[in-house]
Amino acid sequence: MSQNPFKLKGYHGTELFCDRVEETQKIIENAQNDVNTTLYSVRRMGKTGLIHHVFSQIEASEVIKCIYLDIYATENLEGFTQELAQAILKVYPQNRGVGKKFLTLLKSLSPTLSYDQFTGNPSIGFDFKQTKQYEQTVKSLLNFVDTQEEKVLIAIDEFQQILNYPETNIEAILRTSIQSLQHTNFVFCGSHHGMISAIFNDSKRPFYSSTLPIYLNPIKKDEYESFIAELFRKYKKVIDQESIDFILEWTHRHTYYTQALCNKVFALSGKKISIKNVQEAALTILLEYEPIFFQYRSLLTSSQWDLLVAIAKKDTVEQPTSFEFISTYKLSSPSTVKRSLDALLQKEMVLQLMEDDQKYYRIYDVFLGRWMERKSF
Ligand SMILES: Nc1ncnc2c1ncn2[C@@H]1O[C@H](COP(=O)(O)OP(=O)(O)OP(=O)(O)O)[C@@H](O)[C@H]1O
Ligand SMILES: [Mg+2]
Repeated sequence: MSQNPFKLKGYHGTELFCDRVEETQKIIENAQNDVNTTLYSVRRMGKTGLIHHVFSQIEASEVIKCIYLDIYATENLEGFTQELAQAILKVYPQNRGVGKKFLTLLKSLSPTLSYDQFTGNPSIGFDFKQTKQYEQTVKSLLNFVDTQEEKVLIAIDEFQQILNYPETNIEAILRTSIQSLQHTNFVFCGSHHGMISAIFNDSKRPFYSSTLPIYLNPIKKDEYESFIAELFRKYKKVIDQESIDFILEWTHRHTYYTQALCNKVFALSGKKISIKNVQEAALTILLEYEPIFFQYRSLLTSSQWDLLVAIAKKDTVEQPTSFEFISTYKLSSPSTVKRSLDALLQKEMVLQLMEDDQKYYRIYDVFLGRWMERKSF
């Protein structure tokens, strides 16, 4: 019980996972009804955590086999094929029926199979010359899992990465491999707004209308409130309502940042937590990150930096090119602001959000925003 219950990486079971009841249900329901899901959100909102949560719920009832792969580090179809093979190998123990069959299949597909000398885990390599051969291999791998008399759910995390592959027809290749499957469904998980919508909403592209989208919003305020109060209580600490309100407001309920502040508060405080402890924890975090924040300055042009500071000070901005905003924060012309804004959006330094049909902007990294807000730049 002395452990810190506010986790910053990995999935640690239902007790330390807040809410997401509806989203979990929806993804499971989709899988049961042979519907593919696209799960997307801004970075660090909890997509990967949610997938692992869904998997743990499914595995408790054992009707669907769950396969997870993260393709963030892959650069081409070869890397994708390897990740897929590796992910499948992981879920079928090699010394039992299906696993043995899968190894036989792998050998027939002629990969180089080696074993890590420390962990004993297998590592698969393919070395084909032609895209067509990878295409065939992806098909064979998916057909294999599809014919194991068990429903299968494959989650592909960081799916937008396929847009960086040099193979131009990658979406068509995947679409054909996926279409013929009978018992296998997918969750395509990704972050970057533009990329995900490019894949799924452009009617000329083959993934068009083939999946149901789930956009992951911040966790609801009352759910997060009781989760935080409850976890502190379970771990023998008491936190008052004012402190919880501050935490949720200061971090915009952006999951990673909320968890990080709770983690720090838990680490630094005694048994009774007041707003003063929370503010101290927040300040400690900002000081820890300060060296990195200062470096951003050298990576941006001065008009980009000035705009970033202005947005941070205002917290949320609806019309960054308006006369009022520009004159209040002494920025230059609307056209320069527009150009800087586009660059900052592109660099994922500024986030574009929608609420009640109203577009607005905020600093992407919550801690950076809070740090800038306090500084007298
Ligand atoms: N429902 C939750 N309850 C508690 N903590 C959560 C929850 N969802 C996510 N987290 C925590 O928030 C952090 C960010 O979550 P996660 O990595 O799943 O986000 P992500 O959307 O996949 O981010 P990225 O886009 O960078 O891959 C992690 O530390 C994770 O442990
Ligand atoms: Mg993730």
